[in-house]
Amino acid sequence: MTRSFCFLSKKGGVGKTTFSLNCAHALAFSRFRTLLVDMDGQANLTRHLLKGAGNPGDTPAPGSAVPAGFPDISQVLLKRCAPHEAILTTGYENLDLLAGSTSLDDLPILDARLIREPARFKLILQELAPDYDFILVDCPPIVNWLTRMVLFAVEGVIVPIQAEPYALQGLQDLIPMLDKMTATAQLYKIVVNMYRSNTQLHQNILREIGEEFPGRIAKQTVRQTIQLAEAAREGLSIFEYAPASIGALDLYALCWELFELSPEKVKSNIRSRGRESGAAQTDGTGPDAGSGRPMEISPDPETTPEAA
Ligand SMILES: Nc1ncnc2c1ncn2[C@@H]1O[C@H](COP(=O)(O)OP(=O)(O)O)[C@@H](O)[C@H]1O
Ligand SMILES: [Mg+2]
Repeated sequence: MTRSFCFLSKKGGVGKTTFSLNCAHALAFSRFRTLLVDMDGQANLTRHLLKGAGNPGDTPAPGSAVPAGFPDISQVLLKRCAPHEAILTTGYENLDLLAGSTSLDDLPILDARLIREPARFKLILQELAPDYDFILVDCPPIVNWLTRMVLFAVEGVIVPIQAEPYALQGLQDLIPMLDKMTATAQLYKIVVNMYRSNTQLHQNILREIGEEFPGRIAKQTVRQTIQLAEAAREGLSIFEYAPASIGALDLYALCWELFELSPEKVKSNIRSRGRESGAAQTDGTGPDAGSGRPMEISPDPETTPEAA
């Protein structure tokens, strides 16, 4: 059964796009068929993904990250094309994209009925679900009609936060609102990003959030590391850019926690994919198992947790 999650927060710059992208890569590397949906009008995820791997010969349309003439999610929401027609292959095995564009911000002007039809996105995901094991949706930094539509469609909500003094206040605004929504989406996990465990401030913030929202905070934090920003700049996932870095280690462990993966689940998935494709099998427990190269994910001894 397909599992679907969105990355949501009312703040920008907290890691929604970073988590969406890298979690999707980690899943795809383990040969889970993964679809990323970019619901943010800024289309950072789309730019990143197509810069790194996809469609090198294609010329992007002006003001857009996708190849000229290629539909994005806004066209699908407007019913101008079928969901399958808008799927972009990314150049990575098992990783597809429903691209975002600035048109997402104009949707209510282009079709006023959309706001009254919150199930439209859910229907799109339902149509695509048979082709995927995981669907991850990157949301804009706002809770509006568009994000409500996403909440109505997905199984779980992952809320990245930055460990800073107003983080708790932001969650106190957001979480009760999410809980009240009659959508099917449930708050799944709050994830502390850019964590520095050697600071008293960050430790205190983590403890306070844990006390306020018991059981809803991911055990795995993601430490602050310049390599995550550098990877984004290069249009690469952290698993390609710095596979032995703390960023890769934290995000891979986060993925296993959020999506309840285990060595058995990953291995059995790799085996069944291998049978389907007749491809060579790997042990499948490393992020680039899909490429056939064995990869050990372990902390880089050169990189101390807080040094990066
Ligand atoms: N753990 C981290 N350490 C260092 N930089 C990070 C980390 N997580 C995200 N970033 C960087 O922070 C910036 C904002 O992240 P992004 O994922 O785009 O946030 P959002 O999608 O919530 O707006 C990006 O430049 C990203 O590379
Ligand atoms: Mg973003």
